[in-house]
Amino acid sequence: MAITFEVLEKDIAGRIGRLKAGERTVRTPLLLPVINPHLQPVSPAEMKAMGAEGIITNAYIFSRSGEYRDEALARGLHDLLGFDGLIMTDSGSFQLSVYGDIAITNLETLEFQKAIGSDIHVPLDIPTPPDADRQRASAELDVTMARLREAKEVFGPDAPLAGPVQGGIFEDLRVKAGREAGDLGFSFCPIGAVVPLMESYRYPDLVRVVMAAQRGIPRSSCIHLFGAGHPAMFSLAVAMGCDVFDSAAYALYAKDRRYLTAQGSYRLDELAEFPCACKVCRSHTVQEVRESDDAVRLLSLHNLAVSLAEISHVRQAITEGTLWELVDDRCRSHPQLFRGYRELLNFRESLAREDRVTKHRFFYRGEESCARTEVVLYQDRLSRLPVSGNVLIAMDGITREGYDTVLFFKPPFGPYHPALRETFPIGQSEIPDWDKAMVRQGCRGIARIISSNPGCHFVVYTPPEWYDLVCHELPKTEVQC
Ligand code: GUN
Ligand code: ZN
Repeated sequence: MAITFEVLEKDIAGRIGRLKAGERTVRTPLLLPVINPHLQPVSPAEMKAMGAEGIITNAYIFSRSGEYRDEALARGLHDLLGFDGLIMTDSGSFQLSVYGDIAITNLETLEFQKAIGSDIHVPLDIPTPPDADRQRASAELDVTMARLREAKEVFGPDAPLAGPVQGGIFEDLRVKAGREAGDLGFSFCPIGAVVPLMESYRYPDLVRVVMAAQRGIPRSSCIHLFGAGHPAMFSLAVAMGCDVFDSAAYALYAKDRRYLTAQGSYRLDELAEFPCACKVCRSHTVQEVRESDDAVRLLSLHNLAVSLAEISHVRQAITEGTLWELVDDRCRSHPQLFRGYRELLNFRESLAREDRVTKHRFFYRGEESCARTEVVLYQDRLSRLPVSGNVLIAMDGITREGYDTVLFFKPPFGPYHPALRETFPIGQSEIPDWDKAMVRQGCRGIARIISSNPGCHFVVYTPPEWYDLVCHELPKTEVQC
């Protein structure tokens, strides 16, 4: 059965969706914890009980394991792992990129993944590292695309195949790769080779690469961000359009005695308290965990619980239309993540075309909020606002006689017609005391409406303390206070 994906709700480029693969149906955004059969601190059954709807494991490990190979073939993965949710298998490409050559072909790994009953199979793509030059990235992408084509030809259009998108750090290659994967009929596309970018905190590069791949991949496809495991970045990735994550971070961080939170991570040794509501944190003191022989397992349980909870948090934010607020909050926890957030705001024009028109709330959280998609969308619509004759823009909220049209002002959006007072975003935005950034942004809205109505005469009344700034922003306009 083919992989199908249905979008139910949207915010920015993020979605809540329903992913069907084989007989399994799961909700997205989705976290697939990584299972390593050789060293597994938390069992798949426990994960299911904690709310994990799917898991991912490495088919290459199973195919090379004396212990598991025959059993996996005889019983199937779901039975062997004791997990009846969605199981995705990776091909071993990542081992290829880390350890060099691996002794398996594209068709062999796909055949094996099918034989052990995986719900989503991954071809043997080539994860091109970020330092590869264009020639290498392009040549490796050609190999990856040939393998995707081969997979479709051999296993047919309805096989549950993932179509990984590579291309290194070259945005045009990523766009092309995404488009071709779509043309080949892949409805589930992992964006690959981004782990080194995340490991070295190159979030601005990550944003450019993901946005490029996303531009190429059809919007109806489900997007998986390969190897994205830290919960602090889930909201940012979802805002870019990613639907599925796989996390080894919960176990890798635990092995290093590190404690994940959605705002960053701590070393166990630097914690005095567990700031978390999960079972482990409520039933153990920090000292107990520190001294426990079971510390890795206890930390893994906690790390997984916060990762799954963050996915729920993201879903709730999408439903409310407050994903930007969540991204803003999470990305302030690390300077590089914050730079990634600012890079994403540079894509506001294209993100605005995907964003929904109304939301429950808009909370202003500083100058970054001026660059949000809601501001772009509002100011784009200003050219259609009907005005005539003498127009008063009453930034000070005081209406005056003698004008054909009276508009009020709400920063960072700009002028609004009194009839729109209760509509989004004017009526639903929580704006603190005015600051320079928001007033300047609002003035750009005024400039928009002025330039769209050359036949009208505009007068702007501003509160006295904003007079200089408004005159500076609107040099050709009559400004009074
Ligand atoms: N896991 C992390 N990155 C990758 C990738 O680029 N390809 C595959 N197949 N698995 C991965
Ligand atoms: Zn906890």
